Amino acid sequence: MTASRISVISDTAAMQAQSRQWHREGRRIGLVPTMGFLHKGHLSLVELCRRHGDRTVVSIFVNPLQFGPNEDYQTYPRDLDRDLRLLESLDIDVVFNPAHCTFYPPGHCTFVEVEGLTQGLCGAARPGHFRGVTTVVTKLFNAVRPDVAVFGRKDYQQAAVIQRMVRDLDMGIEIVLAPTVREADGLAMSSRNTRLNPDERARAGAIFQALDTARQAVENGLTTSAQQLRRQVREHIAVALSPDIDYVEVVDPDSLEPVQTITGPVIMAVAVRLSQVRLIDNMQACPPAA
Ligand code: PAJ
Repeated sequence: MTASRISVISDTAAMQAQSRQWHREGRRIGLVPTMGFLHKGHLSLVELCRRHGDRTVVSIFVNPLQFGPNEDYQTYPRDLDRDLRLLESLDIDVVFNPAHCTFYPPGHCTFVEVEGLTQGLCGAARPGHFRGVTTVVTKLFNAVRPDVAVFGRKDYQQAAVIQRMVRDLDMGIEIVLAPTVREADGLAMSSRNTRLNPDERARAGAIFQALDTARQAVENGLTTSAQQLRRQVREHIAVALSPDIDYVEVVDPDSLEPVQTITGPVIMAVAVRLSQVRLIDNMQACPPAA
């Protein structure tokens, strides 16, 4: 049990009842979905959400559906008391923390799937991952009934997939995207960073540096070749970190299709594996003429 003053709801029906009451009172409800083990990136989403609504719900749920059989579901860091302490100063209204057994009751067999956008980037290496994400986010939306929900650009493909799902299924929820919060050396904050060993952690800022150097090359008009950019980012990361590189891609911000010649804004996206830890990052770049 926890001594926190934040109201924690773990039952979907109770969450829906709370949400109905707020809506009767004319409140605008904001939701920040998370898997917990919160860091400053999550907290920045909460602050942004508070500016977009007048009731704020943070969900904390490590969603088994979005982890593959050989991924880190069992070892994903969890600490609800710590999360509640971090949220205490932020003036939120409810933490929705569903229990696994009731959130996915025996016999659960309904899934939400966005096609196309989920094929490339992380979707290629993590089959079923985005189906798990869109299914749980739909369930969280149905429990909390938010008017607005906030997602981070750090998980760019996830944000794009959710925006498309909300549009295609007429969910009528405003999706707000928040900028990536980084450590002092540029490494994108992530709950998984705590599992890097000290040596890997010391060198992991190279992922940001590689992306930022590539961004400058595009923005200064030094290259319009996505192939050249991909090679440059790969080499930079390989020299500094020698990780397993899952992908380095340059894609269209809307379709997430690979780009050959950079004539407008692009997303440069990277996924690498360091020991047991998979890290992703991305950055937008825009050529001078666009
Ligand atoms: P989680 O990894 O906990 O992230 C929750 C939200 O925080 C996501 O929208 C993510 O993009 C955002 N976020 C993570 N690191 C960030 C950073 N450094 N800067 C800004 N935002 C950051 O993403 C998930 O959980 C799950 O897939 C979820 C959407 C909750 C569904 O289970």
